[in-house]
Amino acid sequence: MGTLLIIGLLSYLIGAIPSSLWAGKVYKKIDLRNYGSGNLGATNTFRILGWKAGVVVGLLDFGKGFIAAFYISGIATGAIPTVHSGWETEVFVQIYAGLMAVVGHMYSLFANFKGGKGVLTACGMLYAIEPISISLALLVFLTVLFTSRYVSAASIIASIMYPIFLLLLRFGFDYAIDGSLMVITAVLAITIVVKHRSNIQRLLNGTENRIRSFSPAKG
Ligand code: G3P
Repeated sequence: MGTLLIIGLLSYLIGAIPSSLWAGKVYKKIDLRNYGSGNLGATNTFRILGWKAGVVVGLLDFGKGFIAAFYISGIATGAIPTVHSGWETEVFVQIYAGLMAVVGHMYSLFANFKGGKGVLTACGMLYAIEPISISLALLVFLTVLFTSRYVSAASIIASIMYPIFLLLLRFGFDYAIDGSLMVITAVLAITIVVKHRSNIQRLLNGTENRIRSFSPAKG
């Protein structure tokens, strides 16, 4: 039990690293919460600080979920008293660690419990757990992004598609893990959609920000 608490706490703290808030301070001495969408994520960083800062923050936010699910969860190997053993337990601990990182990213202790919308951190977590369905969701994200130029629409649709891909493909997992991961990521998708409610409002009334250009012209 103590091990699980340590994993949860460490994963939350890693997820809570406010990369875009710090990027705003470092690159332009501004608080990104007061600019653009006000969101502490890679998209708003890209929008306000330019593509280089956007890429750095994007990689960090992805890395937070990946590190929690891939490395921090490893603290538990062989250390959790459970009737389950081996791989199945490890996957559940990976999901738990990854989710704690996503919660940390969304509600950061270091940013007055503000944060981002969790898409990249969830993506990093899912790459550490099951790369096939998340790669397909990434393809959906890129297709929607390049056709609509709305990051928010791409994020929402890809988040919803992930558990559906998992259901359809069932690569490599058994029913317990597949079922749990599907339910958990469906709840995560709902959370991500709720986090995007202001974007949805703007999409509906035609005022949502579009990515103006995909070429790295500034930053
Ligand atoms: O993942 C966040 C993105 O979908 C939207 O970001 O800054 O436009 O609210 P933003």
